[in-house]
Amino acid sequence: MGSKLENVKLASAVDVVIMAAGKGTRMKSKLPKVLHLLAGRALLKHVVDTAAALLARQVTIITGHGAMEVEAALASPTDSTALFDINFVRQEPQLGTGHALQQAVPVLRDDGIVVVLSGDVPLIAADTLQQLINACGGTQLALLTIDFADPTGYGRIVRQGEQVQAIVEHKDASEAQRAIKEIYSGIMAVPAKLLKAWLARLDNKNSQGEYYLTDIVKFAVADGVPVVAHKIGDALQVAGINSPVQLAELERAFQMRQAVQLMEQGVRLADPARLDVRGQLVCAQDVSIDVNCVFEGAVTLGEGVKIGANCVISNATIDAGAVIHPFTHIEGGKPGTKDAIEVGAGALIGPFARLRPGAKLGPEVHIGNFVEVKNSTLARGAKANHLAYLGDATVGERVNYGAGSITANYDGAFKHRTVIEADVHIGSNCVLIAPLTVGAGGTVGGGSTLTKDTAPGALSVARGKQVSIANWKRPAK
Ligand code: UD1
Ligand code: MG
Repeated sequence: MGSKLENVKLASAVDVVIMAAGKGTRMKSKLPKVLHLLAGRALLKHVVDTAAALLARQVTIITGHGAMEVEAALASPTDSTALFDINFVRQEPQLGTGHALQQAVPVLRDDGIVVVLSGDVPLIAADTLQQLINACGGTQLALLTIDFADPTGYGRIVRQGEQVQAIVEHKDASEAQRAIKEIYSGIMAVPAKLLKAWLARLDNKNSQGEYYLTDIVKFAVADGVPVVAHKIGDALQVAGINSPVQLAELERAFQMRQAVQLMEQGVRLADPARLDVRGQLVCAQDVSIDVNCVFEGAVTLGEGVKIGANCVISNATIDAGAVIHPFTHIEGGKPGTKDAIEVGAGALIGPFARLRPGAKLGPEVHIGNFVEVKNSTLARGAKANHLAYLGDATVGERVNYGAGSITANYDGAFKHRTVIEADVHIGSNCVLIAPLTVGAGGTVGGGSTLTKDTAPGALSVARGKQVSIANWKRPAK
């Protein structure tokens, strides 16, 4: 999301319009284009989150193709959409970008600055938009532009001297105009009142028979309203998505940018090209991350944490000095809820461990290979090193939980809790049928199936007594 914005006092409020009615034919997908994911977030959600960072007063989303799906995906109040009024306006049929904006006119107030964005240009930064808004200043038409070595397909910024005269679409441009490298990014900031007046004057007399939003530049020039081009150098911010190839390219470019930021903070990445952060990764000093790791949602890594190769980690807080060995899957639920995952300082997890929602591991806990932990609390120094399941369990300090043991937490209808008090030793291959409490310091013999609580300090063995028949002859054919 957005960086901190310089606090510019403008008379006018900012109202964002996001165009998202286009079909996205080249995605060759049933999913509307703007709902495809970049870094784990829908393209359109990136843009909406940026609008939130801009402290927009209202956000209007123009939908058309897949309108129901797009509206449903954004209608539920989320962190960012709760911050402003959100309107959906349908554009059917889609007769061009100017026509798209015309649909928004009834919901736009006259006193605002309208910032026009595209739902398929996900990485526009809030501070760039703030500069564009400042360039508009409530009185001018401000266009976001960039120089492209290959401007094919884009609208060209036509100037007379320094003065912007028009945007000419590629298909309408002369040879001389096509040589212009400065293009219109599709993003502008314009006073609402002027925009409304200009939109009313659009026609579709051009090579594509569309109502071009870009024609308002000519009207501004005719009306003596200054047109300013705010040119940036960062192509990623204005990169649009039209195809799976472009989506993948932008994903890699975005991931590399995040990787570089992490390394600049001191994080050691074995290979910045093999890291995926789909959310927010916050790292303390001296964190190292091996290849092919995926971080989702909100993940915090404490000082000196080491993440092995091929780990997938979602919504977790991992404290200082913990080591996550290769191939571990940490799958926390929503941040800030009981389902988020905590891994204590100095804990050792994996390889091949699975931490599911609500796993809360204290300091120095060891979770080894093929161990699954769900909705369970393990206190300091507890260990489950091999092939085990802990579900809905409360595990005390220094407990040793043997290989192959499980908590049978589900009776087919309800989940029940297992309490294993401090210093208990559970042997291998035990079944603890919940609800159940194993008293502090107790020992449970390997292969036991416990159905009743045990007293502190007791040895509990619950299995068939061993029978050995001497000189047993096996049947023979
Ligand atoms: C537009 C600009 C062009 C600019 C380019 C930057 C116009 C006429 N041209 O061209 O100057 O260089 O963007 O990428 O504006 N959309 C609707 N309804 C419509 C048509 C489009 O909502 O009827 C939406 C699309 O979904 C998309 C955005 O508007 O999000 C831009 O549309 P697109 O067709 O990509 O415009 P371009 O022709 O590329
Ligand atoms: Mg386009």
